[in-house]
Amino acid sequence: MIRQIILSFFLFSSVLTDNECPYGYRFYPETAICYHLSEDLYDFDGSVSYCQRKGGRLVSLIQGERNGIAREPKTTNGDCVTFKGVGSSVGLQTSQCYQQQYAFCKIVPNLCNGGVQNGSFGSIQSPQYPQQYYNKLMCLYYIYAPEGFSINIYFPQINTERYYDFVEIYEKNSTLYPDRIVGLSGNISNYEYRSNGSFLLVVFRTNYVITDIGFYAAWNVERIQPPIVSNTTTSGELISPNYPNDYDTFDNQIYYIKVIEEARINVTIDDFLTQETFDFLEIFDSMNQTASKRIERLSGNSVAPWNWLSTSNIVSLKFVSDGSYQYKGWHLMWNMVDRK
Ligand SMILES: *[C@@H]1O[C@H](CO)[C@@H](O)[C@H](O)[C@H]1NC(C)=O
Ligand SMILES: *[C@@H]1O[C@H](CO)[C@@H](O)[C@H](O)[C@H]1NC(C)=O
Ligand SMILES: *[C@@H]1O[C@H](CO)[C@@H](O)[C@H](O)[C@H]1NC(C)=O
Ligand SMILES: *[C@@H]1O[C@H](CO)[C@@H](O)[C@H](O)[C@H]1NC(C)=O
Ligand SMILES: *[C@@H]1O[C@H](CO)[C@@H](O)[C@H](O)[C@H]1NC(C)=O
Ligand SMILES: *[C@@H]1O[C@H](CO)[C@@H](O)[C@H](O)[C@H]1NC(C)=O
Ligand SMILES: *[C@@H]1O[C@H](CO)[C@@H](O)[C@H](O)[C@H]1NC(C)=O
Repeated sequence: MIRQIILSFFLFSSVLTDNECPYGYRFYPETAICYHLSEDLYDFDGSVSYCQRKGGRLVSLIQGERNGIAREPKTTNGDCVTFKGVGSSVGLQTSQCYQQQYAFCKIVPNLCNGGVQNGSFGSIQSPQYPQQYYNKLMCLYYIYAPEGFSINIYFPQINTERYYDFVEIYEKNSTLYPDRIVGLSGNISNYEYRSNGSFLLVVFRTNYVITDIGFYAAWNVERIQPPIVSNTTTSGELISPNYPNDYDTFDNQIYYIKVIEEARINVTIDDFLTQETFDFLEIFDSMNQTASKRIERLSGNSVAPWNWLSTSNIVSLKFVSDGSYQYKGWHLMWNMVDRK
């Protein structure tokens, strides 16, 4: 009878399938733990060894705990008990150690899909994405770029329980609050982070209640290249890295052209060859490289000759290449033009 009550409670509460658990165990989302109830009766010592044989550990319960299995027990309160008997249809009460009871076993499953990634690009996602993630997670995603490269990570969409479940970013192997660069929770779109160094740690931390779909993120490495500044003359030339030889993989080179405030900048590209779409030069009519200030995104083999006159006295450029197909790149000339 005890078994019936516990088992029915158990079946009704476990709505998920049990991919998370070994055979014979049921997953209980509220605690994120797998449980198993024996067919036969055992005393306390018998229950302990039964659960060991089933690959798990005996559950022991705190008297009066909500639903019996909402939390882990403390060793106070007569923990040497298989079950604590049945007082009502939802509760479990104390019984003696020698009493024969059904053994109630548990396994804490590893629900995380984190680990170490390296190479030039990759992706990470929360467990089960785009289905609901689990409660009580602490998943670590380590990303290592080669020396001389940084990591750019992009989250198109994050959905977590606001204020309680977090996607966190660190630049060292630490999960301590002072080392945290950012903690993201709630509904967030288009979040991008570029590391200073060659290492990123993403941590996904969830609390014991309420889930959402979590996150997906794509990352790639970028060469650490200091910006090139052209600001001391009235005309000049800029080139892609190594021009006229092939540019590198994973370039991310920023350029600034700056003239006196009363002037504008005449930009001419007389040679241009990059991998169509994937390797490109962006031109901004500002120091700020925001979408609203972007004039053009140039790529392929039919760009040159290209000419443009800025409205601002600062033009900035960004050259980006990916991991495949390098070409000679581009050559650009500029000159200062007085405002009429
Ligand atoms: C990258 O990861 C692979 C497999 O995880 C490992 O064998 C290799 O040593 C790693 N390389 C570096 C540079 O960390
Ligand atoms: C992170 O640091 C811990 C010790 O704090 C160490 O056990 C672990 O191997 C480190 N992980 C990586 C990926 O560097
Ligand atoms: C956040 O997104 C979830 C869908 O994942 C939606 O149900 C919820 O209403 C959104 N919350 C807010 C505050 O926009
Ligand atoms: C990254 O570099 C910027 C600019 O130098 C600095 O303000 C920031 O604190 C650095 N962040 C980390 C995590 O090192
Ligand atoms: C040119 O740029 C350099 C580097 O950003 C800066 O230190 C210098 O002050 C600038 N000179 C002028 C004239 O703007
Ligand atoms: C802009 O540069 C091109 C190429 O050097 C030149 O032919 C043109 O006259 C320049 N325009 C202005 C307004 O300086
Ligand atoms: C560039 O962006 C910063 C912050 O987004 C803003 O404060 C600044 O005014 C912008 N500068 C220009 C020239 O648009």
